Amino acid sequence: MSPKNLGLLWKIPALGKSMKKKILNLIKKKNNTKIVSLTAYSKNVSSIIDNYCDIVLVGDSLGSVLYNYKSTREVSLNSMIEHSKSVRMGVKKSLMVVDMPHNTYRNSKEALKNAKKIMFKTKCDAVKLEGGKKIYQIIKTLIKNKIPVMGHLGLLPQSDKTFKFKGKKKSERDKILNDAKLLENAGVFSIVLECVETSLAKLVTQNINVPTIGIGASKYCDGQILVFDDLIGLNQMNYRFVKKYANIRNEISKAVSNYSKEVKKNKFPNKKNSY
Ligand code: KIV
Repeated sequence: MSPKNLGLLWKIPALGKSMKKKILNLIKKKNNTKIVSLTAYSKNVSSIIDNYCDIVLVGDSLGSVLYNYKSTREVSLNSMIEHSKSVRMGVKKSLMVVDMPHNTYRNSKEALKNAKKIMFKTKCDAVKLEGGKKIYQIIKTLIKNKIPVMGHLGLLPQSDKTFKFKGKKKSERDKILNDAKLLENAGVFSIVLECVETSLAKLVTQNINVPTIGIGASKYCDGQILVFDDLIGLNQMNYRFVKKYANIRNEISKAVSNYSKEVKKNKFPNKKNSY
C-alpha cells in the first residue's frame, strides 16, 4: 500500500514528523502484522501495557468501568483529560489515542476546540470519534487541522439504544461498509469495529486501506482491542467478546486477606517495615 492511498492525513506536510512516522508504521501493519491495542485509564496500567501494545486508548468506557455510569454519555471532557494525563506518563512508544466524549463534537467548531484542548493538555497522538457519514465533515475538519483521527463504527456506545451486535440486516451492513469507506476518504488512520458480525468485519477490512481494530468483531480485523480491566478479570462483567487472561480479583483478594490477617496478628509492620 502506498501512502498516496492513505487519505487526507498524508497530504498534510506539517503533521509532526514523529507522529507521522508512528501513524505510518501503524498503517503499514495492515496485511502484515496484527495490531495489538488495549485501553488504559492510569499511569500504572499504561506503563505495563505500553511494552506490548501498538495503540493505548484512553477509552470513555472508563465511565462504566470506573465510575459505574449507566452509559458513556455521562463522561466529561475534563475526566477524559485528567485520566489521559496520567496515562501519558506511562506511554513511551505506543500510539496514544483519546476518546472524544459524548457532546464534545456536535459540530466542526466544537469538535476542533475540544480536540485541540485534548491534544494540548494530554499530549496524546490522536483522538477517536464515534460515527460515520454524520460526522464526516467534522472528521475532515480535525484532520485538516493536523489532528489525527481514529474512527469507530459498529456498536456506538455513545448513541446506541440496543447494545446488540451489528450486521444482521442488509441495510445495516451496507451502512457500515459505506461509512468505513467514507471515514477512510476523510483521512482516518484506522477504524475501531465494535460488535460487528464476522463476515461484515472481514468485508470492511478487505475494502479499506487503513487498519480495522476489532472488539467483538472477529479475527479478520487488522488488530484487536480490549478493555484492560476485562482482560485481567478485574471487571466482574462477562461479555462474549472478552477472554479473561487472568483472574486478578483472586490475586487482589489473597493479598488483602493476608494483609488483614497480619495486621490483626500484629505481624505487620515488622522491623523491616519500620523506621
Ligand atoms: O471506550 C472504549 O474503551 C472503546 C473501546 C471499547 C474500543 O471505545
